[in-house]
Amino acid sequence: MSTIFVTGGAGFIGSNFIRYWLESHPDDFVINYDLLTYAGNLANLEDVAQQHSERYLFVRGDISNYQLARHLFDRFHPDWVVNFAAESHNSRAVVNPEIFFQTNVLGTQRLLQAARDAGLPRFHHISTCEVYGDLALDSDERFYETSPYRPRTPYNASKAAADMAVRAYHETFGLPVTISNCANNYGPYQFPEKLIPYFTIRLMQGQKMPLYKSSLNRREWIHVLDHCQAIELILLKGQIGETYNVGTGLELDVETVADLLLEAFGLDASYKSYVEDRPGHDRRYLLDATKIRTQLGWQPQIDFQSGFKETVAWYWQRPDWWQPLLKKLAVDESAWK
Ligand SMILES: NC(=O)c1ccc[n+]([C@@H]2O[C@H](COP(=O)([O-])OP(=O)(O)OC[C@H]3O[C@@H](n4cnc5c(N)ncnc54)[C@H](O)[C@@H]3O)[C@@H](O)[C@H]2O)c1
Repeated sequence: MSTIFVTGGAGFIGSNFIRYWLESHPDDFVINYDLLTYAGNLANLEDVAQQHSERYLFVRGDISNYQLARHLFDRFHPDWVVNFAAESHNSRAVVNPEIFFQTNVLGTQRLLQAARDAGLPRFHHISTCEVYGDLALDSDERFYETSPYRPRTPYNASKAAADMAVRAYHETFGLPVTISNCANNYGPYQFPEKLIPYFTIRLMQGQKMPLYKSSLNRREWIHVLDHCQAIELILLKGQIGETYNVGTGLELDVETVADLLLEAFGLDASYKSYVEDRPGHDRRYLLDATKIRTQLGWQPQIDFQSGFKETVAWYWQRPDWWQPLLKKLAVDESAWK
C-alpha cells in the first residue's frame, strides 16, 4: 500500500486525479489537503468520500502552513506529494495579484521545506504551459522543457517562480522532485469561471457568451483524465529532477470553441458578444510533449470531439453541481478598462 498526499484535491484537476488514483490503485491511501478557497469544492468528491471512505482522508489546510503540513508528513510519511494547490485563474490575478504570489510561490516553498524536513521520497509539482510565455499566432515554434521561462501575467509569473523554487530544492537540498507543465485542461468539475464551463452554463441560462476581441487566440486542449494519466506515469516512471511537458498538440481558438458550443445547443451567432481583452492576454501556447511520449510511453486517449461532447453533456446534467457556484464568480469578464 502506498500513500499519496494531494494538495488542492478539492479543485478541478485535483479532484479528478483523486478519483482516478483511487480507482486505478485499489490498495492506496489518498490524503486530500486543501484550503477550500472559492475554487475548492468537496462536492467534487462526494462519491469518492462515500465509496472509498477507508482509503480517503480530507484535511482542510493551507500549503503555506508549514507546521500542519509537516505534522501530516511525519504522521503519514507519504510516498508521493502531488502539489496541485494554487490560485489558478488569470483574470483574478489581474484584479488581485498578491494572493497568487502568496499561495503559488510562498505556499509551494513552505510545502517544499516541510517535505525536505520530513525526508519525503518524492515531491511532484503541477505546473502549466503558461510559464513559457506566449507564441505568435502564425509561429511554427513550440515550447520544449528547455525553453526559457517568459511569463507575462501575474498568474504565469507566480507559477514560473514556483517551478524555480521546486528546482532549487532539488539542486540545493537534493529533494527528489519532478515537475509537469500541462496545456489547457477541460472536463467535469471545472469551476465555472473557466472558458468551457463558463460558456456552456451561460448558454444553458439563455445568456450570451462574452468572447474577448482577441477570440482567435489559441489554446492547446487536453482532457483532464489524460492529464491525470500523465501524472501517474511521471510518479511511477519519471526521472527525479526532470520536467515533463504534457500536451496533445490539438489547438483550437476560442472562437471555434464558442462555435462548437453553439452547434451543440442548436443556437445561432447572436449568442456571441465581444468584450474588451484581459490585460496581458496571451495569444497562444503549444507544448512539445515528445519527452513524455517517448520516455514514459504516455499518449492521450481521449479525442477532443468525444471528450468535448461528454463534458458539455456533464454540465447539462449537473446544474445541482454548478448552480451553487455561480455566486462565487467574482470577475466580470466584460469589465476590463
Ligand atoms: N486548469 C488548467 O487548465 C491547468 C493547466 C495546467 C496547469 N494547471 C495547474 O493545475 C493545478 C490545479 O488547477 P485547477 O484548474 O484544478 O485549479 P482549481 O482552481 O480548480 O483548484 C485549486 C485548488 O487549490 C486549492 N487551494 C488554493 N489555495 C490553497 C492553499 N493555499 N492551500 C491549499 N489548497 C489551496 C483550492 O481550494 C482548490 O481546491 C494548478 O496548480 C494549476 O496552476 C491547471
